[in-house]
Amino acid sequence: MSDKSINQLTAIKLEALSDLGNLDSIDQLENWRVKYLGRKGNLTNILRGISTLPVDDRKIVGTEANKLRSSLEEEYEEALSTIKSGQYDQVDSIDITLPGRKPKIGRLHPSTNMIREIVHAFNEMGFQTVEGSEIELEKYNFDMLNIPADHPARDQWDTIWLDSDSHDDLLLRTHTSPMQARVMEKNDPPVRVIVPGKCYRYEATDATHEWHFNQIEGLAVDENITFADLKGTLYEFVKKIFGPSRKVRFRCDFFPFVEPGVDMSIDWNGRWIEILGAGMVHPKVLDAVGYDTEKYTGFAFGMGPERISMLQNEITDIRNFYSNDLRFLSQF
Ligand code: PHE
Repeated sequence: MSDKSINQLTAIKLEALSDLGNLDSIDQLENWRVKYLGRKGNLTNILRGISTLPVDDRKIVGTEANKLRSSLEEEYEEALSTIKSGQYDQVDSIDITLPGRKPKIGRLHPSTNMIREIVHAFNEMGFQTVEGSEIELEKYNFDMLNIPADHPARDQWDTIWLDSDSHDDLLLRTHTSPMQARVMEKNDPPVRVIVPGKCYRYEATDATHEWHFNQIEGLAVDENITFADLKGTLYEFVKKIFGPSRKVRFRCDFFPFVEPGVDMSIDWNGRWIEILGAGMVHPKVLDAVGYDTEKYTGFAFGMGPERISMLQNEITDIRNFYSNDLRFLSQF
């Protein structure tokens, strides 16, 4: 007697599982549930009939029937969630009621923006952009700029020297001025270049000093270039970047590669803030690159774009530029 019931259970199981494999909608699954687990289903019939079985068989058939029931219930739950998730993918994956959100996109670094703005201002005045390498020879960083070895002026540029088997004169450039010598060495006058680039100094950092920073060098050499050209060019630059009514002040300053040398400050809420060094190219520098010092004169200047950006954007600590903090960077 129990054999018959067990065979029936096995048949139900096989049929139920094979039917389940052909289902793909919630309606079909519901019919399946009624057929195999519903009150009028075959399995329920068998369970109901257990009490009529001989005592010995009751336990065996009861255990098997209940096992089958819970395994079919599990199959049902699993199929239900599979069908639901499938339908969700097809129909509801786009919620058109959800308000649109701005996609996150990158932006240029504030230093890059400032460099581009300054370089563009000079490009408009006929200066051509050139770039140099950050690893430089002592010769270009110092000697050709009238800063011989052991000259105390070298102290102004605390230098990071590089170890190299083939060279004992390699350094990370401390300013972009070596490009003055390199450009003139390669080109006959007239020369008019603007040189943005990274520089390095062996210096403790604080709110206004970084050990690495950008500089922008300018150089113009031709016949009849005078100090008036230097002032006119730099006035024009200040107008382009800070607006037409910004006041400017020049004061004497010393750099070995210019004579006379100046620094330029701009008026900032009643205070003079220095933004660059400049001067007429020293005849010794022209001489070192083989230019005729009787025929040619020129001016040069160098500025720090981060400092200028600090003024424009009221940034109080230069270290923000390189600390890679999105709360700072995303404000520009
Ligand atoms: N190279 C100088 C510095 O780093 C700046 C400068 C450039 C001054 C050109 C005069 C002319 O301080």
